[in-house]
Amino acid sequence: MTIPCDILVFGGTGDLALHKLLPALYHLFRDNRLDPAVRVIALARRPLPRSDYLKLAERHCRAQIALRDFDEDVWRRFCARVDYFAMDATQSTDFVRLARYLGEPGGLMRVFYLATLPSLFAPIASHLHTAGLADSEARIVLEKPIGQSLSSATAINEAIGAVFEEQQVFRIDHYLGKETVQNLMALRFANALLEPVWRNGQVDHVQISVGETLGVENRGGYYDRAGAMRDMLQNHLLQLLCLVAMEPPAQFEAEAVRDEKVRILRALQPITGQDVQEKTVRGQYGAGHIGGQEVGAYYFEKDVDNDSDTETFVAIEAHIDNWRWAGVPFYLRTGKRMARRSSQIVIQFKPVPHALFEGGQVNQLLIQLQPEERISLRMMTKTPGKGMRLEPVDLDLNLAQVFSQTRRWEAYERLLLDVLEGDSTLFMRRDEVEAAWAWIDPILKGWEAHFQAPRTYPAGSNGPEQANSLLARHGRNWHG
Ligand code: BG6
Repeated sequence: MTIPCDILVFGGTGDLALHKLLPALYHLFRDNRLDPAVRVIALARRPLPRSDYLKLAERHCRAQIALRDFDEDVWRRFCARVDYFAMDATQSTDFVRLARYLGEPGGLMRVFYLATLPSLFAPIASHLHTAGLADSEARIVLEKPIGQSLSSATAINEAIGAVFEEQQVFRIDHYLGKETVQNLMALRFANALLEPVWRNGQVDHVQISVGETLGVENRGGYYDRAGAMRDMLQNHLLQLLCLVAMEPPAQFEAEAVRDEKVRILRALQPITGQDVQEKTVRGQYGAGHIGGQEVGAYYFEKDVDNDSDTETFVAIEAHIDNWRWAGVPFYLRTGKRMARRSSQIVIQFKPVPHALFEGGQVNQLLIQLQPEERISLRMMTKTPGKGMRLEPVDLDLNLAQVFSQTRRWEAYERLLLDVLEGDSTLFMRRDEVEAAWAWIDPILKGWEAHFQAPRTYPAGSNGPEQANSLLARHGRNWHG
């Protein structure tokens, strides 16, 4: 159980708070992981009586929490710990009101969760400081994306760093809270078998692919300024790349793990000039069909400019300039309104050095994060009967089945608990965020300089054809 604390959620009426944070806190409360004296205070501009906020929260939480996990009595007790405070996060006077409402901390830890636009991070931190709320016990949680570019991310980090020490800052990337993502570290660093083949001598290439069938939902205003590159690739996909590529840390501990991840980000080969056109593909979905339903084009989404050239898809061929990975392409791909929801990492091994049998003979390790948590290793086997006819067969580990008795934690549950316990291993350190932006910035600038407009792809497809050519020109293709 954690120590007593106040959890203040800025952006308390937003999708993230209602769909992810409150359900996660409910689960932690139900499992007695939170101190019974915890207070959750949702903060937003809308003037709402507490009872209305609780109704709103209940409606969203019921939709998110599995029926068997929703206990009426627990929900009532949880609600007794939730309050709503209407305020404008840009107004310093509202922070003075907030401080008055919270009262003396008396040793109580305060966690400020900023589920807001990144442009509010710096003003909120500074107002918290002025109102005397940012004491040395406090923690601040920042949602991605941190900024829009290297310079804006650095400015945010500076402003936050002026008020909070680095160990008080938790930059969240919810992909790091996913079980399978953590399993990636277990797979790599607890199985001696893989280490000798986890390198350029044996690996042909790596694919990291996150496809969603969803469009931009209610977040058109935010998304149209971010796009797939800032919303997904700069953070989630690069974090996955780090975990696949990093060297084994000396200890499983925050600084050691993050040191290794930063080394990978800094070793990413810059993509500049002509390479931007050759190694990256931008796409935007047009009208199409998903699951038999007709869906409209991106530029018809609510709060999106109707001549928007924001990308909803991006594919990149990345290289890591270090001893282990020299010459191994890492193909990254993410898109909205794709044919299926699927997040996966594929490690494609090189063929056997001397082929005894006919046909291609390659092994492939598939780590699937979504929709199912699976790890499978493709092996070449002989088909029964006469002759040596080979077929690829998968050794399959379905994690949900293996651990069927255990409820799968949502990423935010694990990460919120880590914040309360002060463990930053699964959070991004300042230099990590900046190193990621330092690699992304020249690509964004290259797109602008060459007016690289996004290619249209039909909703419900696998993205623009050019993303296939990215691999096809080297005789490869996307898995799935
Ligand atoms: C968020 C992005 O960080 O991740 C969303 O802002 C995206 O646009 C979401 O839909 C995907 O998360 P998950 O866990 O559903 O893969």
